[in-house]
Amino acid sequence: MFYFGADYYPEHWPEERWDEDARLMTQAGFNLVRLAEFAWSKMEPNDGEFEFDWLDRAISVLSSHGIQVILGTPTASPPPWLMAKQRDLFLVEQNGVRLTYGLRREYCPNNPLYYRHTEHIVTKMADHYKDNPAIIGWQIDNEFGDRCYCDICKTEFHKWLQMRYKTLDTLNEKWGTVFWSHIYTDWSQIPVPLSTIRSQNPGLGLDYRRFMSDTYRNYQKFQIDIIRHYCPDHLITHNLMGFSYNQLNYFDTTTDIDVVSWDNYPRTQWSMRSEVDPVKTALNADAMRGLKKKNFWVMEQQSGGGGWEYVAVPPKPGEIRLWTYQSIAHGADAVIYFRWRTSRVGTEQYWQGILEHHGIPGRRYEEVSHIGKELQRIGNKITGSQVKPRIAIMQSYDTRFAFQVQPNNPRFGYEKHIQDVYEGFYSNNIPVDIVSEKDPLSGYRVVIVPAMYILTEETASNLEKFAAEGGIVVFTPRTGVKDESNTVVNMKLPGLVARMAGIEIEEYISMPIDSDNHVRFGHPDLEDEFPTSIWADVIEPKEARVVAWHSQDFYAEKPAATINNFGNGKVIYLGIMGDKAYYNAIARWISGQARIKPLIELPQGVEASERWHGEKRLLFILNHHSTAKEITLNSSFIDLLSGKFLSGRISIGAFDVLILTDVEKPKT
Ligand code: GAL
Repeated sequence: MFYFGADYYPEHWPEERWDEDARLMTQAGFNLVRLAEFAWSKMEPNDGEFEFDWLDRAISVLSSHGIQVILGTPTASPPPWLMAKQRDLFLVEQNGVRLTYGLRREYCPNNPLYYRHTEHIVTKMADHYKDNPAIIGWQIDNEFGDRCYCDICKTEFHKWLQMRYKTLDTLNEKWGTVFWSHIYTDWSQIPVPLSTIRSQNPGLGLDYRRFMSDTYRNYQKFQIDIIRHYCPDHLITHNLMGFSYNQLNYFDTTTDIDVVSWDNYPRTQWSMRSEVDPVKTALNADAMRGLKKKNFWVMEQQSGGGGWEYVAVPPKPGEIRLWTYQSIAHGADAVIYFRWRTSRVGTEQYWQGILEHHGIPGRRYEEVSHIGKELQRIGNKITGSQVKPRIAIMQSYDTRFAFQVQPNNPRFGYEKHIQDVYEGFYSNNIPVDIVSEKDPLSGYRVVIVPAMYILTEETASNLEKFAAEGGIVVFTPRTGVKDESNTVVNMKLPGLVARMAGIEIEEYISMPIDSDNHVRFGHPDLEDEFPTSIWADVIEPKEARVVAWHSQDFYAEKPAATINNFGNGKVIYLGIMGDKAYYNAIARWISGQARIKPLIELPQGVEASERWHGEKRLLFILNHHSTAKEITLNSSFIDLLSGKFLSGRISIGAFDVLILTDVEKPKT
């Protein structure tokens, strides 16, 4: 079943309204709602006093209309009575300031009292709802992530370090504490990396980030264990924040949950822009699918304009539908809109839901209902089908964390660099997976490894094996610079992958922000020149062939990119960072080397993506323009949405979507 619904907060509305809400939901084709994830003070109004009657009634109204429920554990928004118990319950920010009450997510994730009260509420909920047939699953907390720097976390950090390094001597050696006289003689001397005048020891910075990521994983696991005990058949998820969120190692965060879900807001009030960047959303979705190599859910799909302090632009007519199908095209098996109805109260008074404050169905409700009708018709043909790219982009949270400590160049952003590489493929309609440095790579033809700054021996040998067996591996600058402790390697770059790349980096140049350079490619399949910026590696080829040269400065005419035969495969090293045209050309060139073709040629801003049911494919075409576009289909299709036969030159409407199935070839 394709799950379709909304995040619903019955506690914000009079009970007399609930039936009408459920009726409107059913009419819109809903079969699932998420409830209760911020309702702690309604479920436990005082310490140890539990009230589930109101929620029972809301669930029974919904289920009488055929709507099932995901329950959120409410730990992201603790009640005042709890937070009044102890000042230590509040998170301390990196500037050393302890939060006060009044927002949400203000708790310290290591506080033992918080754990105890978490255990109370989660146990009571799980026990109370274990046999309720309307409940299909749970969302743990809401959008984990803020780092705490308090003394409790400091003590836990010391324990974590002891587990990792066993002895202080090892820690001192790994972190290089000899530098600036930091040699620790007692674990208790080790600080948490509060803001100091400048950045701290790189080993400390990286390990604290890893520790905080593990902290949330443990806290989540604590809740999961309780729920699994009472509700072994229920599904468990957590709602993540997409690719761009960089405080947690999401590969670890999602190890213990059944399904990845995430919150998809293409246009928020924080940017206040009218344009939406579909590349970002596509990357978010692909990265979320990559976490468990499985289809995902969208737990909060934008259905109105965002708004906390400012009131943002609402989705234009057709955009909710477009964004919904974009999620689906990249692997969503459930789409839950945030939120059912715009709240009249609280911080998010202006965060629009499907319904306005007044609750009378309008334009956005009509659009959602339209999607609901479509999904009732075609949802089963989509659910469970797989996105199956042949190219993977490898990302690493250790590398992200290390770049947070030392970005290397003021214009460099690791996430942005991955997005640039990704966009090259996206713009050519060549699907990619986003994988971790620990994932098995068989099944791919190409693995792109952008700026893998922290490179382990395990990853390097994994990549060597992949190339030796016939794959193409592509590296970009700042690969192989550091070991797992965030210490610079004692070898010529790209360190552990120099051998497979068949090169050594003679010199690396962090380019000044007021001057750029150019690169000239001279490969039979890529002869072109592109502007470069941020970083330049001056390459000394060993076994590799040079395919590009720097154009200017003291390293003019020195090698900038190489290609090396390695076993049955190839290793490409690109020692430059470029502009959109560069990444676009590179994506095409690399795909060509692997004999991978674009799904279809389309104008910019019209996206294609595929899902497969065995041998049958669904080709999604999404027009992100506010005007109709002419496109040329490369085969004959039936559009699942309209039922029409389509081939040749056709027009796709503004923000419109096609879901194409191949017309069976007549048997000869
Ligand atoms: C999400 C969050 C929701 C809501 C929404 C709109 O990040 O999970 O609870 O706050 O943003 O601001």
